[in-house]
Amino acid sequence: MILASGATRARMVVDKAFKIAEVDRRIYGSFIEHLGRAVYGGIYEPTHPTADSLGFREDVKQLIQELQVPIIRYPGGNFVSGYNWEDGVGPLSERPKRLELAWRTIEPNYVGTNEFMKWAKGVGSEVMMAVNLGTRGVDAARNLLEYCNHPEGSYWSDLRRSHGYEQPHRVKTWCLGNEMDGPWQVGQKTSVEYGRLAYETAKAMRLVDPDIELVSCGSSNTAMPTFPEWEAVTLDHTYEVADYVSLHQYYGNRDGDSANYLARTMDMEHFIRTVTATCDYIKAKKRSKKTMYLSFDEWNVWFHSNAADQAIEPWSIAPPQLEDNYNFEDALLVGSMLITLIRHADRVKMACLAQLVNVIAPIMTENGGRAWKQTIFYPYLHASVFGRGISLQPIVDSPVYDAQDYTDVPYLDSAVVYNEAEEEVTIFAVNRNLNEALDLNCDVRSFEGYQLVEHIVLENEDLKAVNTAAEEKVKPHSRGGAQCRDGFVNARLSKASWNVIRLKKFYQNK
Ligand code: AHR
Repeated sequence: MILASGATRARMVVDKAFKIAEVDRRIYGSFIEHLGRAVYGGIYEPTHPTADSLGFREDVKQLIQELQVPIIRYPGGNFVSGYNWEDGVGPLSERPKRLELAWRTIEPNYVGTNEFMKWAKGVGSEVMMAVNLGTRGVDAARNLLEYCNHPEGSYWSDLRRSHGYEQPHRVKTWCLGNEMDGPWQVGQKTSVEYGRLAYETAKAMRLVDPDIELVSCGSSNTAMPTFPEWEAVTLDHTYEVADYVSLHQYYGNRDGDSANYLARTMDMEHFIRTVTATCDYIKAKKRSKKTMYLSFDEWNVWFHSNAADQAIEPWSIAPPQLEDNYNFEDALLVGSMLITLIRHADRVKMACLAQLVNVIAPIMTENGGRAWKQTIFYPYLHASVFGRGISLQPIVDSPVYDAQDYTDVPYLDSAVVYNEAEEEVTIFAVNRNLNEALDLNCDVRSFEGYQLVEHIVLENEDLKAVNTAAEEKVKPHSRGGAQCRDGFVNARLSKASWNVIRLKKFYQNK
């Protein structure tokens, strides 16, 4: 390979035998909370020109369908810790308006469990429900589950049927509360308090419906002083009743250091490894045969809107909270976060980009007007659409750099997915180098007969470029110059770029 000036060089080996695990499609999940304009003015706006008969926006639905979101977490988030689910079912005219304490707004309850279930089905997504373990507990959780999943012949299931939903919703995945370690959480618990409550709630819920899957609450982020002791103590209680432990993490380029910002997935990597180790410690301690999986059910960039949120007056319906306007470098970090999730496909079985519409979201809307794609829409779209199959372990030899908080950060960040059924291989790669292109030489000799389909690139001269309703400055193109010859892929990855290199097996016509 000829190394052109102004470029560094990296090598990679991808072999179909280097299997990490089948990617669980639910790692491409997302999240909608009753917060800001996520529901009201986001997915639901009965006066919008595209509104359907239930009041949901068709233009937003189409964008969500394009993303092929397999699962959506609902209804919170911090919101769930003060939520009375009963307020959101039954005749609209009888639903109360409540003070919503997590975000200090008015919750009108126009949308509740049934409407959301119907909407989610329409966009092709499963729902991951969360129960309130802040202000409520075992009783409200088991009643909600009975309301959702029991077919008929009991008080709560018959109530659902009387509300016009004859068939059970059959929600499989349930979160046992949200961020219960956080001082900001209404009804925060100590690890022992939470462990006991989560265990008893899980026990009752499993008696109602033994087929459900449960997520035990992990730490709110790696900076929590109780991390990872929280995981060790709570899992000691919930290990045998839960299937997953949750991880949440948001990053932001607060000090304008882009090289350091793009290295933040080193922290995400450490988070996943530490939680995995803690789960395995409890497994060993309990002499258990069961493996605990990870649900990274909140992750994203979140910081742009922090100052604006301080100025929002409390107690209005659907104020514009957490409306981060994402730039190009945010899309690169989101791409790296997706790569990190794919590389941990053996333990991370679910993950939710938080959130989906208007609130720290890939999709934005104007009330009564347009819907558009933020910069982060694109890496999420590419991973969700092309990242289904077996995650392969790429062997990477990349130059590295030192950033403020991390050393030996590889310029090349990569994950590879092999879709056996479609005979396709997709290489996802971020070049973290802000100044130079990276010439990638990738050995794919185990994929005989595979040829290049396309090389998608997201690049921009301006790391701070953003998209608006009027102009999409950051969007991908398929003019990447990758070539696949004699079992090797050679590609120039532009400085600061997100790349999707797609290969497919081709057959000679006989
Ligand atoms: O996604 C926004 C908020 O972030 C969620 O409500 C909460 O769980 C987390 O702190």
